Amino acid sequence: MREELSRRMRRPQRHRLLHGYPMTPLLRRSSPDPLHLRRLDGGLTARSGEELEPPLVSLETDRPLIVGVMPHTQCQPKVEGCGFCTFPHDDFDKRGLRHTVGRVTDEVRRTPAELRRRRVVGVYLGGATANLMPTASLRGLLDALGATFDLHGAELTLEGVPSLFPSFLPGALHALRDGPGARQRVSMGVQTFDPAWLQRMGREHFGDRRVVEKVVSRAHGFGMTASADLLLGLPGRPLDEELADLRLAAGLGLDQICVYPLVLAGDTPWARDPAMVGALPGVEEGLARWLEVRELLGSLGFAQTTLTNFEREPAFVYERASFAPDLHDGLGIGPLSISTFLDPAARTAVKTVRGRSTREWMDVDRLWFPYEPRDVSLLLITRMLCALEIERARYAAVMGRDLADEHADAVAALLAEGLVTLDERALRLTPTGTYYADAVVGTFAAARAAEVRDLGAGKHTTDLARGRVVSDFMG
Ligand SMILES: C[S@@+](CC[C@H](N)C(=O)[O-])C[C@H]1O[C@@H](n2cnc3c(N)ncnc32)[C@H](O)[C@@H]1O
Ligand code: SF4
Repeated sequence: MREELSRRMRRPQRHRLLHGYPMTPLLRRSSPDPLHLRRLDGGLTARSGEELEPPLVSLETDRPLIVGVMPHTQCQPKVEGCGFCTFPHDDFDKRGLRHTVGRVTDEVRRTPAELRRRRVVGVYLGGATANLMPTASLRGLLDALGATFDLHGAELTLEGVPSLFPSFLPGALHALRDGPGARQRVSMGVQTFDPAWLQRMGREHFGDRRVVEKVVSRAHGFGMTASADLLLGLPGRPLDEELADLRLAAGLGLDQICVYPLVLAGDTPWARDPAMVGALPGVEEGLARWLEVRELLGSLGFAQTTLTNFEREPAFVYERASFAPDLHDGLGIGPLSISTFLDPAARTAVKTVRGRSTREWMDVDRLWFPYEPRDVSLLLITRMLCALEIERARYAAVMGRDLADEHADAVAALLAEGLVTLDERALRLTPTGTYYADAVVGTFAAARAAEVRDLGAGKHTTDLARGRVVSDFMG
């Protein structure tokens, strides 16, 4: 186990852990027949309504929900995928965008009754550039969400690029303020404040520091909170420039700063450029830089609350709930959205990943994963570790066994490398462990992943990112 871990620690760390277990290639094709539908509870239904396979979990529980909505998959950078982006994204096309959001809004209204009855703690409108929606479409979607779910206690987040938030006439921020939910948040993709890098990404018109400052102050004026994403390890970029970006971000009044170490993978322009790939920081250098980033953010009043999030006050609900699958289920709505439902008593769970279609019965690319108890254990470990620790009592409440007994070899190897600490209450990542999170999760999951690999469809996240959202409108 120790050898396996040190081999994994020598590889580039990609924070794949954020996807949870299983990794995308292990997800299975939902059904060989496009006229069969894999439901959220794992059951398989023919178009005639006939049940072909029974459900694996019951949706009839009062477990609270988080709802992740992908309203569409469009973006508008001047450079393909901003150069680096591994998220699904399509070119901007106004008619198609309106149509897709309309379809997703209909899908919200068709939410099964047993899910409408559940308490919702957080809704996240994200993926691609969610705030590219026309304001009327956004208002329609928010109305549908408010009419379908009980959002009185919920956090509501809208993601997007900074320049699309402020507007002279009532726009996205006003729609969000008037929408449902107990508290609202805007989440901005900033990446860097450096004009030369923004130009390389084709993001010159997405907003400089003045625009970000304006969004933060307007959001605060509306009683909302604001967060920003920044990229670490841009190829060849000196560390002091990176730290200057973080100082600037902290000075703009943001409530949360999300830092993503750059991953160059798949068919993106920068991943195709050997000079860019060759100029990424190496593993050891990446660790030294990561520890400096953590220290600087700490000194600026931002504590690390998840693998990638640093917050002034630990206030954000959606991420925390998504990292507590023992307590919450996740409903995904819209193209490429992900749902996970767990039955703690039966120790089973079901993950379904929607394809690109906005029509359920045409969604032939749907993927899924049926969790056996061994897989549920890995689901708990991978999700909880994103929030930096696994509480042993919570793990045992689902699995009926202690984490340190069940995964004794992995825990011993991680302790020996100084990547985790273990006490009566929890297994916790050390600061170095937060950098090597990818290696940590690999160590827990490797044996089981090898067993189920052959059943997987072998799709990679970047395969899902390619192509165009299909709806009846586009033919
Ligand atoms: C859906 S995007 C954010 C919203 C918006 N589209 C934007 O670009 O501003 C989510 C975040 O993932 C991060 N991201 C995307 N591709 C990445 C990659 N290859 N490596 C690391 N982080 C990445 C970026 O920081 C981005 O802001
Ligand atoms: S970083 Fe944002 S704007 Fe750029 S391609 Fe990805 S999702 Fe779209």
